[in-house]
Amino acid sequence: MIDAAPQGLDRVYFGSGGSEAVKSALKLARQYMIEIGQPQRTKFIARRQSYHGNTLGALGTGGNMWRRAPFDPVMVSASHIAPCYEYRLRAAGETEEDYGLRAADELETEIQRLGPENVIGFLAEPVVGATAGAVPAVKGYFKRIREICDRHGILLILDEVMCGMGRTGTVFACEQDGVSPDILTIAKGLGAGYQPIGAMLCSGAIYAAIETGSGFFQHGHTYIGHPVACAAADVVVTKLTEGGMAARAMQMGTQLSKALEAEFGQNPHVGDLRGRGMFRGIELVADRDTKAPFAPEKQVAARLKKAAMANGLICYPMSGTIDGVEGDHILLAPPFIINDDQIGELVDKLSRSLATVLE
Ligand SMILES: Cc1ncc(COP(=O)(O)O)c(C=O)c1O
Repeated sequence: MIDAAPQGLDRVYFGSGGSEAVKSALKLARQYMIEIGQPQRTKFIARRQSYHGNTLGALGTGGNMWRRAPFDPVMVSASHIAPCYEYRLRAAGETEEDYGLRAADELETEIQRLGPENVIGFLAEPVVGATAGAVPAVKGYFKRIREICDRHGILLILDEVMCGMGRTGTVFACEQDGVSPDILTIAKGLGAGYQPIGAMLCSGAIYAAIETGSGFFQHGHTYIGHPVACAAADVVVTKLTEGGMAARAMQMGTQLSKALEAEFGQNPHVGDLRGRGMFRGIELVADRDTKAPFAPEKQVAARLKKAAMANGLICYPMSGTIDGVEGDHILLAPPFIINDDQIGELVDKLSRSLATVLE
């Protein structure tokens, strides 16, 4: 079932959704450190403007301040570095690759601040979803992240709950970054968006450390490995791989990207068009030249959501793109079976909705 997995992810643990998968990943990572005789490792590092789920554990690693705020006092918190967010954070005159290395090196700085011997893992979405709007990392970023983690014996945990399972045009998003994590989380698309299921994949080395150590993963829920959910996911994975659905997401994603570029590429309020495969983001701005966002009180994303619904389009506009407060984006994640006409319909409905809101 996990034939297309990045190298070394030999084991899988099924649960009921994304937050559960992330929480399981955090606990597995911690237990692994205990099993290998490094119990002093207690800290996780994640990124600002990320979302990893809503349980206290998953929310504690997430970097979206609005979502965290009410629960901050009762959470076990990770520390956060900047996301790899080229549109806003690449300096003028800096190459894409130089920016990627600079952004990744923030991890090294944070590890040194915490003490390398105290850190369990680094958690990131390969393509940031809900909180930033389909933001992929630039070339080289995750390779440098992988090197830094390896240098310090820190686990790389990639959260592909939203961007995985073919969404970006490959079964796993990280395939396009050329890295293999130690632990990877998936959900959503694993059940084609209908069947509640999530999973955590881990390396054979982590599994072996526990198997030859205490002998069992100290975790569990009533519905882990639920047979009906797993049977549904098995069919979905077969469609993605042998049925060519992930490849189709890549092909139709290119069409979608071209259609968005043609419609919005010159729009004075579209600052950035980004994403991979069938996972596309549009960042809205008040001024394209200065990249100034709309004032939060304008509630651009909320109004756009209403206008799009009224026009018969379900999309995912969000505000707080830049720092949890400022900025607006639209996330598009259409079904993989979309056809050319429907791409036209999507773009047309979105264009009319945007025009209503920005009038
Ligand atoms: C990247 C990411 N991780 C985790 C989750 C949490 O998944 P769930 O809502 O299934 O608990 C989400 C949900 O949107 C997500 O986008």
